Formats: sequence, C-alpha cells, structure tokens
Amino acid sequence: MRILGIETSCDETAAAVVEDGNRMLSNVVASSMDLHIQYGGVVPEIAARSHIEAILPVIRQALDDARCSWDDIDAIAVTYGAGLGGSLLVGVMTARTLAITRAKPLYCINHVEAHVYANFLTETSLPGFKMPARQPKFPMLAIIVSGGHSQLVLFRDHFDYSLLGQTQDDAVGEAFDKVAKMLGLPYPGGPSIAHAAASGDPEAFQLPKARMSKYDFSFSGPKTAVLRLAQAQIGETHDFPSTKLAERLSEAQKADIAASFQRVAIETIVDKAKLAYDEFGPQSVVIAGGVASSQELRRQLSAALPLPIAYPDPKLCTDNAAMVAALACFKAQADQPQASPYSLAIEPNLNM
Ligand code: KG4
Ligand code: ZN
Repeated sequence: MRILGIETSCDETAAAVVEDGNRMLSNVVASSMDLHIQYGGVVPEIAARSHIEAILPVIRQALDDARCSWDDIDAIAVTYGAGLGGSLLVGVMTARTLAITRAKPLYCINHVEAHVYANFLTETSLPGFKMPARQPKFPMLAIIVSGGHSQLVLFRDHFDYSLLGQTQDDAVGEAFDKVAKMLGLPYPGGPSIAHAAASGDPEAFQLPKARMSKYDFSFSGPKTAVLRLAQAQIGETHDFPSTKLAERLSEAQKADIAASFQRVAIETIVDKAKLAYDEFGPQSVVIAGGVASSQELRRQLSAALPLPIAYPDPKLCTDNAAMVAALACFKAQADQPQASPYSLAIEPNLNM
C-alpha cells in the first residue's frame, strides 16, 4: 500500500510517499520560513500564498523522488486540521481535486496525531536520515510537543488513546518562540534558544515551574519569569518594554537566560512524562512535534526513563508529509472511514 501524503497546516508545503506505514519513499518539504523571519513569526497570508505556489511542484517532486506514477499510488492523505485556515485550505482543496481526477481514496488526517506517526517510519533509502530500528510497541506513551501543542497521550493501540494532560496556556514551542523574541534571537525560537544556550549556564537562574494538576503543563508562568528576570538583569522595572530588552542584554546574559529557560521548560515536560511512565508502565515512549528535535529533551528524557527510546530523525519531528502518509497507511489497514473528496472541510481548531 502506497500513500501520497500532503501537509500544509502552517508554513511548510510538504508531500511524501510512504509504503506500508513504515517505508519512506520520498519526503519533500518547501518552507516559506525565509519570508516570515523578518516579522518574527509566521504571517498567515504569506504562508497561504506560498503554499499555492509550491504545492503542485512539491507533489510532483514527491512522486518523482519515490519513482512513482499515479498508477502506483493507492490513496491520498491530507492534513485537515489543526492549523492556519488559509494554509490548510490549499492542501485540502488540492488533495480533494487530485482524489477526484485521479480516482483515489482520500483520508483526512489530524496534524497532531500525524506527528506521533513519524515514530513508525523505520526504513528509507533517502540520504541523510537516521531511522529507528523498529516501530514502537503498545501501550505507548506519546510526548507531543510542538508550536501549537503540549500533550501527554497514552495509546493503548492504533486509534485507541487517552489524553492524560496538556498545556493550560502556551504550548512549549510557542514559549520558546516568545522567549527567543524577547532575547532578540531569530524565529523559530527552539533552535535559536538551543544555539544560544550552548554557551550559557543552565543553572545560572532558577526559574519557577508552574504547579498544575498531575499531567497538565503551563509555560506561560516561566515565560513571564524570564521577562521579569531580564528586566532585573538590566536594572529596569516591570514596565520596561520586552521589545527593548534585547539591545540592553549582553551576549553572556542572553546565553544564561536561554540555557536556564531551556532547562526548566524541558524539565517541566520530562517530570510529567516520568510520572506517567511510572503510573502506566508503557512498552514504549515516543516524542513528537517540532520541539521533539530538541537535543536537550532527548538528553533529559534518556536520563529520566529506564527504557531505551528510539528517537525519530529531527527532520521528521518538524512538519512533514511522511508522517501524514504513515498515519493514513494505518487508517487504511484498519478500514477507518475515508473522507469525501466532494465535501471534506478544514478544521483549524481540531483537537486530539
Ligand atoms: O511541529 P512544528 O514544526 O509545527 C507545529 O505544528 O507547531 O513545531 C514548531 C515548533 C516551534 O515552536 C519551534 O520553535 C520548535 O517547534 N522547535 C524546536 C526545535 N526545532 C523546532 N524547539 C526546541 N528545539 C528544537 N531543536
Ligand atoms: Zn506540527
């Protein structure tokens, strides 16, 4: 079974072909990131316009790289939520049109669920990917950490899962992005905080961890604590504007703040993951979403949990379409319902 996946929920236009849920035959990602950097975040209108320009060449490339013609494709899968409305529309309308004109079954995919399925990709002949040796086993604890989500989910099996807890305010990636902006570091914040943190002291500052119910997170408190800390560092009071902090902080201060924030934000996730591991005793633990490419998360998690974790390639943690196609393969195998190519609608606020 070969599925063409399409993903356009944010600023990446992506298409990929995956065979049998584990073999990645192609993985094409065109990002409009360069156009957003000057604004310090993704501009929805620019993202949508870029998708329109990129989508057909990206799909063509995904088929070519996989050495597939349309006859070799058994179904089409597309992300229909959560995400930016204008961005999702481009992928969904393209997938619907192709499903009709090429007469293929259509699967609609939840973006956040798809992130988890990056962990089921175990084979590829594409260069530059380090794939895990085997697929995760159930029950599986999934730590989903992206720009829009921070969730702990217990999967008993495919399509049988419970949400254990989630963020009550900012997602962890969003907090990284906001703290980076305060420090004058480029978007996206996760990698630029990691870069700055490399020359800082993670114990320089003790930032508070929010007290939440057992498996829920909060990243808004630590983010505000960073603002107060940065203001204090330059001898200013609470009304000093966050947009002017960067020019007053030294490189060493920025590095120490970045390292301390990164440690605490990641510890917040790892502490809860450890609690869930101890309570539910899963066979496997997986990480998913853009923040899963964080080396600090991988380091802390491996130190905290007693089982070996097969981390996905960082390139498959950020948005891509191979994860979308992989999940669709399992949906098709399990005879899950198909989407109608005549009526599939986007769901920008789709939840797990
Ligand atoms: O999953 P993703 O690509 O898009 C969403 O679905 O949100 O995640 C993007 C988020 C951004 O907030 C970015 O700062 C964060 O993932 N991120 C990282 C790293 N790479 C991306 N955070 C920490 N460390 C990284 N290496
Ligand atoms: Zn994502």
